[in-house]
Amino acid sequence: MKLNVLLGLQWGDEGKGKIVDVFASRYDVVARFQGGPNAGHSLEFGNVKHILHNIPSGVFHKNIHNVIGNGVVLDPVIFREEVEELKHKGINLNNNLAISRKAHLILPTHRILDAASESAKGKSKIGSTLKGIGPTYMDKTGRNGLRVGDIESHDFREKYNFLKKKHQDLLAQYDFQYSLEDKEKEWFEAVESLRQFAFVDSEHLINQYLGQDKSVLAEGAQGTLLDIDFGSYPYVTSSNTICAGACIGLGVSPKNVGEVFGVFKAYCTRVGSGPFPTELTNAEGRQLQEQGNEYGATTGRPRRCGWLDLPALNYAIMLNGVTQLVMTKADVMSQFDTVKVCTGYKMNDGSTIRHFPYNQYEVAEPIYQELEGWNADISGATYFSELPEAFRKYVHFIEKQTGITVRLISTGPSRDSLIEKD
Ligand code: GDP
Ligand code: IMO
Ligand code: MG
Repeated sequence: MKLNVLLGLQWGDEGKGKIVDVFASRYDVVARFQGGPNAGHSLEFGNVKHILHNIPSGVFHKNIHNVIGNGVVLDPVIFREEVEELKHKGINLNNNLAISRKAHLILPTHRILDAASESAKGKSKIGSTLKGIGPTYMDKTGRNGLRVGDIESHDFREKYNFLKKKHQDLLAQYDFQYSLEDKEKEWFEAVESLRQFAFVDSEHLINQYLGQDKSVLAEGAQGTLLDIDFGSYPYVTSSNTICAGACIGLGVSPKNVGEVFGVFKAYCTRVGSGPFPTELTNAEGRQLQEQGNEYGATTGRPRRCGWLDLPALNYAIMLNGVTQLVMTKADVMSQFDTVKVCTGYKMNDGSTIRHFPYNQYEVAEPIYQELEGWNADISGATYFSELPEAFRKYVHFIEKQTGITVRLISTGPSRDSLIEKD
């Protein structure tokens, strides 16, 4: 079998968690391939909302094996909290969750370094979730990191102390107060509880599954425009969020990738700093924020909102080789007489472009196409044909501009608010 990949095409929070949860029943395995507890994936069913950070969004389905791949960075403390919370909800993960030995560990000092670095940046801060993501990936590429597999080694403490000392030396260069003792104690306790899970060589496991004709879904975190290489650098995360990241983060050959599901919101949101050409700082933006309940699942910060950006979406489709689009949150736009879609940009130098530029701060203003709003509640619909004509036109316009079919349309946070088109 081929590895199917589901990922975000914008700046994160596209609704990946919900869609993975919906798809999960069709799969044998769900695997996370990058990112860490900076992710906040919301799932909703039975009128209860669940938010996952480290744990793959397949966990609410029985008989699904969940894998945390080598590309992920794992905070044992946050992981333990998630496991406990799930246990209270009657979900026991011991037999259906495996963690790659090659996944890197987030240390308490990584989180402190994240905070110190952001605080030193002042106005140019990234707006990080402060979960230690950047410093942990820096240690990974700097070849200093501590991995899950190290927990099994006899000199784990020494390795930890060596890395901690390096971090303390770095922290001495910042004017930043911190205390470590309590955090360290909690961290080592959480590391102990991590041992109850299977530490695996996940690249072998995933390839074995594929070889046995088992279906595997790779679950992305963040979004394409936060990719370390292709996002709006430096306002990005520290991993490759694009489809190629699934190959790296799970050890699967590109030739074994099958469907690539690209999830996007019917509008755009961004949390944290960085360019956002179609951002609306007016009443329309606030309307999207309120209607869409656009507050971060991990940090609670308000998300910036704006119209759909097609050059950005086409860029993401190209980078990921998207084969099917999944559109979420169109229900949020149900109160507009007209809606806008960005089809290009007027640049500061007077030129007009249709592609996503190197420096998005050079965009003077977006070029918009105005479309009729659907002005109707679409949240209860079951079939595409039932939906208002203006809405169907919006979808067809996106399909025409991207050349990709919108296969699924999500019309609400819950599992069953979903329309399978065609
Ligand atoms: P993720 O990080 O991509 O998994 O997305 P988040 O969970 O951070 O943010 C998406 C938010 O939108 C969550 O609160 C979801 O419950 C909610 N959501 C997902 N799909 C829809 C939808 O189609 N309509 C509405 N109104 N909310 C949705
Ligand atoms: P999910 O998986 C939205 C943003 C942060 C910040 C930047 C860097 O829920 O879509 P980091 O903590 O990685 O150093 O932050 O990236 N960011 C996200 N925004 N959704 C996410 O994940 C995000 N993970 C990180 O707000 O701007
Ligand atoms: Mg999220």
